[in-house]
Amino acid sequence: MTDILFVSTSPRGADSLSSKVAATLIDRLKAAKPATTVVTRDLGADPLPHLGPDLLGGFFAPEEHRTPEQKQAIATSDTLVAELKAADIVVIASAMINFSITSTLKSWLDHLARAGVTFRYTEDGTPEGLITGKTVYLVVSTGGVYSQAPADAFDFQAPYLKHMLGFMGLTDVEIVRVEGSAMGPEAAAKAVTDATEQAHSVAARAA
Ligand SMILES: Cc1cc2nc3c(=O)[nH]c(=O)nc-3n(C[C@H](O)[C@H](O)[C@H](O)COP(=O)(O)O)c2cc1C
Repeated sequence: MTDILFVSTSPRGADSLSSKVAATLIDRLKAAKPATTVVTRDLGADPLPHLGPDLLGGFFAPEEHRTPEQKQAIATSDTLVAELKAADIVVIASAMINFSITSTLKSWLDHLARAGVTFRYTEDGTPEGLITGKTVYLVVSTGGVYSQAPADAFDFQAPYLKHMLGFMGLTDVEIVRVEGSAMGPEAAAKAVTDATEQAHSVAARAA
């Protein structure tokens, strides 16, 4: 059985193109393997709290020394780590906001990046990701076109996500781009068509 974790992050609700293309990709993956289960984490609808003193204190205090507030704050992080660990495939629908990821997706990553839990430093100081053996499909949606120069220099979304995921051990990352949607209705329709085709071929390769 394959377990998919679907993380959607757009603040645009039902208008989200990244979520739409990601849903198509998941449908295709499920069609190839019908026993697949999907856990959805909709960060746009249900944002996570930001890092705060209780959560940070909880990260660094041994479990038996955590205060009740720290225990409460860390419970969400524990749930998110468990969701990630349980998944074979992670599908992230990422909307570009101001050249980067949504603050809700940043918060998800902030809850996940935990020393000794999702990454560690080896004796010589090299970081080592602890969440391995998973495939990530990153559906990134952008109003402009960032897959080529000159705008690629201002893409602080896909490279950052790849780096953070890799830092935690998630190095098998495939990117599907829904790009150019702000360049008029025709360009927007083409962006979705092209990305949907990409999603189909990605799913076909995975089958
Ligand atoms: C507040 C806001 C800021 C945005 N900033 C950018 C940006 O910096 N660069 C860009 O290419 N598109 C930008 N966009 C356009 C979105 O990236 C685009 O609409 C994309 O499709 C959003 O993903 P979604 O369709 O999954 O919601 C922005 C959109 C919003 C609402």
